[in-house]
Amino acid sequence: MKIPTILSVLLATSLAITAHTAPTTSSTNDTALFANLVEYDHKAAAALVAHYNNAVYDSSSYRTNAISTKAAASKDILPFCVAIASNPTRTRVYKNKQSCDSKGWTTLFVFTAHTKKDSRHASYPVCIGSAKNPDRSLIQTLKSNCDGNGWKHESTLYYSGKIGADNTVSKVHESTMIWQTSKPDRMMFYPYYAGDKHGWGNGRNLGYRTRWRLATSREMNILKADLPSHEAVNKKIKIVSPPDVATHRCVQNLIQVVPVTRVDPKKPIILQGKTLQRYVDWASRDDCSHLVSSSSIQFARTTIAKTGFTSIELVIKNKVYAAVSLRGDVATPEYYIHLALQESLRTGQSIPVTVDNKQKDQIVALVAGTVATFGGENTFNLAIPKK
Ligand SMILES: *[C@@H]1O[C@H](CO)[C@@H](O)[C@H](O)[C@H]1NC(C)=O
Repeated sequence: MKIPTILSVLLATSLAITAHTAPTTSSTNDTALFANLVEYDHKAAAALVAHYNNAVYDSSSYRTNAISTKAAASKDILPFCVAIASNPTRTRVYKNKQSCDSKGWTTLFVFTAHTKKDSRHASYPVCIGSAKNPDRSLIQTLKSNCDGNGWKHESTLYYSGKIGADNTVSKVHESTMIWQTSKPDRMMFYPYYAGDKHGWGNGRNLGYRTRWRLATSREMNILKADLPSHEAVNKKIKIVSPPDVATHRCVQNLIQVVPVTRVDPKKPIILQGKTLQRYVDWASRDDCSHLVSSSSIQFARTTIAKTGFTSIELVIKNKVYAAVSLRGDVATPEYYIHLALQESLRTGQSIPVTVDNKQKDQIVALVAGTVATFGGENTFNLAIPKK
């Protein structure tokens, strides 16, 4: 019984977003969070990106300023940038931006989400509304229009993954709690932030595709050291955009079953999609079974012997739809490789990925002109060293 489940979630959500149920206390203490803000070196990043683009791409269209570039090969999945300001603590969400530092606002993190409904991967609407004095945004789940109660509708996206017992939808997604408080109504939205311990209430979950934060200077330098090696690999990889919804779904599913530990650059391995049972099952759910027999995950398909840098490439019908370049023979966290592959699918570019030698549970990557750090709780919610 799908409908009652969705309705009850819908009811609970619309109750949660009214001012009446907001906590009566309006003071929050976000000292711990403000201590974590990354000072992104825009100038150093732009130089790194210009070097990479010059080496990898022929077209001068890529040689643009990294910050103003709206990097989005896919129009169906877009990046949303979340920024924070103080007095009072509040957040703003910017659509189709990969960094959103501006006067008074500091980038917290970036998430990507479906902006078109996909009945199998993202089927529930979510709206973003804004209000002024002071400027702020509010995300409301299971609503496609945010107009009303003092909010102005800005954009609609679709919740990734299933809700409740809806088994026709993929359950694979990233998620973050949306915390709210009143006087004025505003939200806190940051991965792993325990808003309830800092005066926020009404926690609700948003499911989306990928997330990362801007890299610190230390992290940026780790990627920079490997950059020429990544360039040599990625120069040889050409990604194509999925021609239809079925291909997009099957590539998304193939990403979820990539079993990475380390890639041996001397031993190319082709893992056939039809041998991966979860992939076969999901293809049947997602109406893309006709693509299974031509699907494969290819390790070390593109290798530069001299440097030992190599690739992971996802192939359907002899075309590459997502890829990462990485150092061979180095343990790389599987989970963040999946996120980087999703960003490759979204941006149409092979993503250079470097393991952080100091913090093994995170990777530093170049995502269409932005130096991005992917990771878990340590990456987002421990004090981030400024240097
Ligand atoms: C705010 O929280 C920090 C720790 O996150 C704590 O050290 C500080 O005392 C708190 N301030 C107030 C006013 O509660």
